[in-house]
Amino acid sequence: MKKISLTGIKPTGTPHLGNYLGAIRPALELTKNYDTVYFIADYHALTTVHDGAEMHDNIHKVAATWLAMGLDPEKGLFYKQSDIPEIFELSWALSCFTPKGFMNRAHAYKAKVEANRAENLDLDTNINMGLYCYPCLMDADILMFGADVVPVGKDQKQHVEFARDVAIRFNKQMNKDVFTIPEPLIQESTDVIPGLDGRKMSKSYDNTIEIFLESKALKKKLGKIVTNSQGIEEPKDPDSCNVFKLFKLFATEDECADLAAKYRAGGMGWGYAKGELQRVLERTFGDAREKYFDLMAHPERIDEILCAGAEKARPVAKARLEQVREVIGVGKIV
Ligand code: ADP
Ligand code: TRP
Repeated sequence: MKKISLTGIKPTGTPHLGNYLGAIRPALELTKNYDTVYFIADYHALTTVHDGAEMHDNIHKVAATWLAMGLDPEKGLFYKQSDIPEIFELSWALSCFTPKGFMNRAHAYKAKVEANRAENLDLDTNINMGLYCYPCLMDADILMFGADVVPVGKDQKQHVEFARDVAIRFNKQMNKDVFTIPEPLIQESTDVIPGLDGRKMSKSYDNTIEIFLESKALKKKLGKIVTNSQGIEEPKDPDSCNVFKLFKLFATEDECADLAAKYRAGGMGWGYAKGELQRVLERTFGDAREKYFDLMAHPERIDEILCAGAEKARPVAKARLEQVREVIGVGKIV
């Protein structure tokens, strides 16, 4: 039996290079050796997206990105979280095995509390219960499908560790190995992708480079990458440069050595380096971009794929939930 790789992406906006390199690419690489469970975490997105039309559109964007990048929906499971109601029942059950302190320590929640403190606001300002309980829902996502590994960016490590801890507690307290103990899988080279301003690329910082920008829009975006103010003639350091950091993730070794030498020699302007970055991005995403826009022009095809995916995933979820219900003593689903 193959091991299971599982991950989810929230439909909170247009997928960017951080999502691709931190989650989508590593997840797709695992399809060779693992059974895969990849999904769209729409109820996680609801903690921040409170506009129905926007949510709907974002779901299509994330699904189309997975499919355009090569996810084969026939292999493994591919669905949207809200189509599997069993996950929400499991989330409640798991929350009863989760110390409240875990939630207090969760990074996303803590960051909001600290931001409120810095602004002298009530510490609970703009924090809904969904955000607070976010890790419990993620535990259910992961444990429901028996994930062995969860490919994610570094920011999600703590959440996967909570799931691990809760699985161990449940199995121990109920004296039965119901849940597989999952592990986060984080690639060193792509753990934190820098955004336009050098901070972690994130929709929340408004510093993202979207995966499927058209050439003109991409050029404009890359123009915004912050560089230092060195003139063309000056020799430059590739390793501390945001443009080079991104280039390295898409270029061959020879291309990297070549561009690094141009940096060090002097006589190269930032425009040239950004042009090189654009070239490797277009090479990487050119074909997928066509597929993405084709899918986005036919959202009914995406819905059909997600619907078929949910039909395949639900029996798996039902079986696990039956097992949990039996162990905790509430009986079978009637
Ligand atoms: P955002 O921060 O833009 O809201 P998400 O939280 O939706 O992104 O992230 C979805 C997935 O992409 C997660 O697995 C996350 O770890 C990964 N990811 C997001 N941004 C980055 C980044 N800058 N570097 C590496 N991985 C990232
Ligand atoms: N919390 C993840 C994020 O912000 C998305 C997510 C939801 C997820 N459920 C998951 C990731 C389960 C991995 C496994 O990116």
